[in-house]
Amino acid sequence: MSKALYFSEKDIQKRVTEVAHSINRYYADTCQEVVVIGVLNGSFMLVADLVRNLYGTLIIDFVKVSSYKKGIVSNKNPRMQVGVSVPIKDKLVLIVEDIVDTGHTLQKVIKHIKRKHPARINVFTLLNKTSRREVEVLINWVGFDIPNDFVVGYGMDYAGKFRNLGHIRPLLKFRGEAPMKVEQKSSHPFVAGRAPD
Ligand code: IMP
Repeated sequence: MSKALYFSEKDIQKRVTEVAHSINRYYADTCQEVVVIGVLNGSFMLVADLVRNLYGTLIIDFVKVSSYKKGIVSNKNPRMQVGVSVPIKDKLVLIVEDIVDTGHTLQKVIKHIKRKHPARINVFTLLNKTSRREVEVLINWVGFDIPNDFVVGYGMDYAGKFRNLGHIRPLLKFRGEAPMKVEQKSSHPFVAGRAPD
């Protein structure tokens, strides 16, 4: 798996398709429907791309957790803002996360889902920052392991911005260097130019 911090749309699509094939193989011998639960807001693009490559009957739902209070500081005590809205008792649940950092958000989501007694819980995260982990969490499929840097794009934000980028890139070059330009294909006035300091 790549340690790079820039993932083009093509890199992402290729990896999401690979993981989808692996998930399909994993659920191949069950005739039960799978409940895919995306963690908002960051997973909205990932869920859309993933489910188009999954076979079988799917139920798709989302939960929402408050994670970053402000900017890039992780919240050790995230709150469930919106819980699961479909029945999951005795069902196969697949949680889809954009990124696992300290692990607190995923831990919260797993606890919330476990309380509803699903038959099985599995987890796919597109990005995984293992070096930042503070709590151990279940992850079955990882798109890319990445080092400890803050990334934006493909659903992931900084202060609510940059979710619409089709690629993933670091927000800034830290360590005293100048901020990187956030490149994009279109010249949309609200996302062109520099990332915020
Ligand atoms: P954790 O609770 O520290 O694992 O953080 C997980 C959540 O924080 C993710 O669902 C994201 O919303 C957000 N997050 C963590 N790292 C990043 C990042 O590098 N860019 C954007 N969002 C991030």
